[in-house]
Amino acid sequence: MNSKLDLLQSKINKAKEGGGEKRIESQHSKGKLTARERISLFLDEDSFEEIGMLTEHRSTNFGLEKTKFLGDGVITGSGFVDGRPVYVFAQDFTVFGGSLAEIHAKKICRVMDLAMQNGMPFVGLNDSGGARIQEGVVSLGGYADIFYRNTMASGVIPQISAIMGPCAGGAVYSPALTDFIYMVQDTSFMFVTGPNVVKTVTHEEVTSEELGGASTHSEKSGVAHFSVENDVKCIKDIKKLLSYLPQNCEEQAPSLPYTAGDESRPKLNDIVPANPNQPYDMREVIHELVDDKSFYEVQENFAQNIVVGFARMAGKSIGVIANQPAYLAGVLDIQSSNKAARFIRFCDSFNIPLLVCEDVPGFLPGTDQEWNGIISNGAKLLYAFCEATVPSVTVITRKAYGGAYDVMNSKHIGADMNYAWPSAEIAVMGAKGAAEIIFRNEIKSAENPEEKWKEKEAEYAELFANPYNAARHGFIDEVIVPADTRKKLIRSFEMLKNKVQHLPKKKHGNIPL
Ligand code: HXC
Repeated sequence: MNSKLDLLQSKINKAKEGGGEKRIESQHSKGKLTARERISLFLDEDSFEEIGMLTEHRSTNFGLEKTKFLGDGVITGSGFVDGRPVYVFAQDFTVFGGSLAEIHAKKICRVMDLAMQNGMPFVGLNDSGGARIQEGVVSLGGYADIFYRNTMASGVIPQISAIMGPCAGGAVYSPALTDFIYMVQDTSFMFVTGPNVVKTVTHEEVTSEELGGASTHSEKSGVAHFSVENDVKCIKDIKKLLSYLPQNCEEQAPSLPYTAGDESRPKLNDIVPANPNQPYDMREVIHELVDDKSFYEVQENFAQNIVVGFARMAGKSIGVIANQPAYLAGVLDIQSSNKAARFIRFCDSFNIPLLVCEDVPGFLPGTDQEWNGIISNGAKLLYAFCEATVPSVTVITRKAYGGAYDVMNSKHIGADMNYAWPSAEIAVMGAKGAAEIIFRNEIKSAENPEEKWKEKEAEYAELFANPYNAARHGFIDEVIVPADTRKKLIRSFEMLKNKVQHLPKKKHGNIPL
């Protein structure tokens, strides 16, 4: 037995060497951790159970039979994050550049199947040169096997991807099918075709970083939900994200212990400026409303006219969707509609209640928006709110104009409780525009049209720029003192916690994609 044990140990040692010291050094010199270092940082101490450590590829193309590494370039298994089980893979760039081939893909599929079967989150740490060129079509098949599983797992278990090195070609579509993408600044990139192909086809000169680096995808495309400074921060942040999420769609997210205190937030009484055209930062409102330091923003630097993220309310996870008057006046446009719609659907899939903070002047006008489909993109947001069955509460802090009033989780489309602050203006449109339309003739024929316009604007504002018309119709449940909002929200979510609502029986809906 001793010699057999020695053989086993020598194989384990060999597997742990990955692609060898030189390649590990090269990985470190780029500021990257190795796959094993990433996993041990991610999982609770001694909790990792590796699966498939001794696998090897079986390709004989291009002399590949002479180059074999135990594990075949990906480390897979299960472990615990803050005591909760997860399945994980980490691609090992020191072995064939982390490239994906038959066995490599099979290992990933195996942990995906286990994650699904057991209702546990699935986390992928990507660092790969893409399809292993020597294995050809087998690699493509491997990707497709993963894509299929990503899709089947969508809405069943949380799926999180970290891009911690290259991720190019069709390989990008696995992360894209998962719920959240982290990208590490300066060391990761994602693109369907790289700079060389771009140059050949479109004659554009672009670097990898410009084309698909962390800042590009977290600011311009919105593909990445989080851009993080380095590997260590990336791993730490994924753990934080998991703390807000349930293990699967049939469970509730874990709650933190919470002791009720003075829930009054007097600062909120002074946050909305007297001048309706003056911006304020909705994040300040969110921070006052949710548990101290609990707000974890998602897609912080993309479509900043809407703010989304996770938070806790009296210890329980919620998803926050808030118009941001400090950016483009909080207007809804294509990008912000997409951003919010996807976030809402994630929360709804995983039983996370929604808090909506509303201050929206309407949809962004213009040819750019119309020609690029604000109609169908705005409809996504509408659809996502209509379809959501989790408890949801809306607080209108100021503007709720036009179609945007309906879209931003109005009672009509399913909000459970709607509050408005006394500063709320709930109307078909702003007073200036409204006065111009309905009093056009009167203004035109007046001695001083400008003065008349102002007079009519004030008249309209007096009549409609308030929450009381909506309250009269029962569209608002209560007009509240801003300082009391947190108290009201804690109570509302408590009273809604047993909510059960079923959608009509269907195969699936047809969200306007
Ligand atoms: C096999 C690969 C590989 C690949 C890298 N390597 N990519 N081996 N298949 N796709 C190997 C290299 O030969 C090298 O081996 C080691 O990994 C490290 O690669 P380097 O080039 O030295 O590293 P670096 O300079 O950091 O560059 C990384 C890289 C580059 C940008 C990823 O390697 C690269 O461009 N690779 C090819 C990318 C590619 O075209 N992939 C196919 C995409 S198409 P040694 O032995 O020297 O350490 C695709 C289709 C998927 O993925 C479709 C799904 C539907």
